[in-house]
Amino acid sequence: MAQVEREQDPGELPYRAHNIPKLGFAEYWYPIVTSRELKAKPKGVRLLGRDIVIYRDAGKLYALDDRCPHRGVKLSLGECLYKGTGTISCPYHGWTFDGANGKLVAAIMDGPEAPITRKVTIRHYPIREHAGMIWLWGGETEPSRLEEDIPEWIADQQTFFSMPMYTDYACNWRWLVDNWGNDQHAQYVHRKSPELFFQPQLPFNLTIEPKPLPNGRGMAFKRIGGVTSAEFPGLGRFPNNEWWRFMKPRGRGNIRGFENSKAHKVYGIPNQSEVWLPGMVLVGRLHGEYALVQLAVPIDENTTRCFNINNFRRTGKLVEWFDRLHYYLWRGWAHDRIFSDQDKVLLEAVIPGPERLSKSDLGVIAWRKFMGSNARRPPGLKEAARDVA
Ligand code: FES
Ligand SMILES: [Fe+2]
Repeated sequence: MAQVEREQDPGELPYRAHNIPKLGFAEYWYPIVTSRELKAKPKGVRLLGRDIVIYRDAGKLYALDDRCPHRGVKLSLGECLYKGTGTISCPYHGWTFDGANGKLVAAIMDGPEAPITRKVTIRHYPIREHAGMIWLWGGETEPSRLEEDIPEWIADQQTFFSMPMYTDYACNWRWLVDNWGNDQHAQYVHRKSPELFFQPQLPFNLTIEPKPLPNGRGMAFKRIGGVTSAEFPGLGRFPNNEWWRFMKPRGRGNIRGFENSKAHKVYGIPNQSEVWLPGMVLVGRLHGEYALVQLAVPIDENTTRCFNINNFRRTGKLVEWFDRLHYYLWRGWAHDRIFSDQDKVLLEAVIPGPERLSKSDLGVIAWRKFMGSNARRPPGLKEAARDVA
């Protein structure tokens, strides 16, 4: 019955062909909160529809299912009663679990000899702290090495430093990730954002040519052609007399192209923007000293945590100081708030159903297909994925 219902869900239509799961690809690392949010107290979070408690004890991190199997209370309301042992105690009757393996090590109200002890185990999750974020492994298989799964802008904190923040979107993760497939919405939606307001219209009516990355992690999109103005018969021009766009298209790759940029020639960065599994987008600059990584974290079916991770190349203390100031005074709000919120409003208003795709969706179509056939899946699911891809 459940199967039949799912088949009839029109919101699943665009994703069913590629077997892209509603709750996200589990066999990946996801940032869940920023480091500074996890203080001494345990914290309840959600990932892939599961409630998880994360906590620190004696400098180590732990993550367990956030439900006490005794009578169902959230462990995140509890405390680390025995500091330094890596355990967490339920606030209701004191059942105490070892964060390293999920084993019940004491049922306090039952006394030290309680027979239930060591008979009960709850799920524990691999957890890491890196680049100012707490990362959780959502899968059932052995976790990959975090640094190998993420762009070097975040992985290599000797060369770069990252400034992360996030916003929760009331929508499924796939709609956010579709938004990153070079569908030319940016040229339309963001043209009135503070960042682009005085800039000339970005080219539209481009031909998008997707190219998979040699590392197998995702794809880049070659942008061919495009115009910055066009006459629409019976309607008029687009854009329509936007006299305030007095700035030069400097630094946006429209003049000399990415191939001639410092990013490409000096730093060897292959593409100005890329999309990666399990759902992230990298957008760099022509100078190669900054890249934004946005990452969609599936919280549950209808909630997605959109991480905006601003990454700067370390080129000296003074520049680093300036980069941070620039982030707080401009980028942090102009992009991570206002620019991103322009997408948020639209994605939260999507009514799922069948789609009529057009030329500008070439990137989205290619990206969905790529995800469907290349995402890491739990062992039993590999075959199923290949059959439909
Ligand atoms: S509900 Fe957790 S100890 Fe009773
Ligand atoms: Fe956007």
